[in-house]
Amino acid sequence: MTQSRTRISKAVIPAAGLGTRFLPATKATPKEMLPVVDKPAIQYVVEEAVTAGLSDVLMVTGRNKRPLEDHFDRNYELEEALTRKGDETRLARVQESSDLATMHYVRQGDPRGLGHAVLCAAPHVGDQPFAVLLGDDLIDARDPLLARMVDIQERHGGSVIALMEVDPAQIHLYGCAAVKPTVEDDVVQVTGLIEKPDPADAPSNYAVIGRYVLDPAVFGVLRETEPGRGGEIQLTDALQALASSPDLGGPVHGVVFKGRRYDTGDRGDYLRAIVRLACEREDLGPEFREWLRSYVTEEM
Ligand code: G1P
Repeated sequence: MTQSRTRISKAVIPAAGLGTRFLPATKATPKEMLPVVDKPAIQYVVEEAVTAGLSDVLMVTGRNKRPLEDHFDRNYELEEALTRKGDETRLARVQESSDLATMHYVRQGDPRGLGHAVLCAAPHVGDQPFAVLLGDDLIDARDPLLARMVDIQERHGGSVIALMEVDPAQIHLYGCAAVKPTVEDDVVQVTGLIEKPDPADAPSNYAVIGRYVLDPAVFGVLRETEPGRGGEIQLTDALQALASSPDLGGPVHGVVFKGRRYDTGDRGDYLRAIVRLACEREDLGPEFREWLRSYVTEEM
């Protein structure tokens, strides 16, 4: 087992996808920049990484993703205008995203799948465990998942994935894990993985959700991984190789998540995320909840 004692500090966020499910909104705007209440979806993901102690963030981007870099950079013109007006509150909001993390960017070039996007991070990550956060999955900040995964990785070595039980009819939308229980209720050992199986071939209803803490051995495996489902190099296939040969890079464990997760890549879930998060906001919540209550009773 390769177990590094270095504290995990790097997060990789693949963000090269085209966002076709949100056209036309994503024709000229990256899907990661779509607002969830008043913050772009991607900012929640970077905040989640930072909260879990990962303040070195590498985004794997592609063409038309400049707004992502601008969002996490300073905007002197705006800052100056707000300073002149004495608008401290908005100034703080503008500066929040540029002060959040140490940001790095690499371009994926050819969109050859999630496994290929993760492989683009190899020179930056080097030889230490690291996290991968998928931008479409938004994990509610009140239900910490990543810190628990980092903790499990530090204790067991190897790699750790996040799993969620789903309706068996939905498993074809996810990577699916075969698992064995461990002594800890929320932790399982992963014995096999299959990307987006037909429900009849699914070994369980444990779906892979978009958080991973990976042993750097995954890079070597990804280099050897042939295109899989959809003709793309699948991260799930590389993890299957690790799970079935622990000598390659330690075991694969799963943390079973029971908290709130929104798939902001899906239009319905995106709307639900906005409504739930708006309801819970101290500034907007009270008035919005009142409106929602009367809207539901009077108009639905
Ligand atoms: C990716 C992974 C899949 C995982 C999913 C979670 O698929 O390939 O294994 O279950 O993210 O959101 P995508 O949704 O990008 O097609």
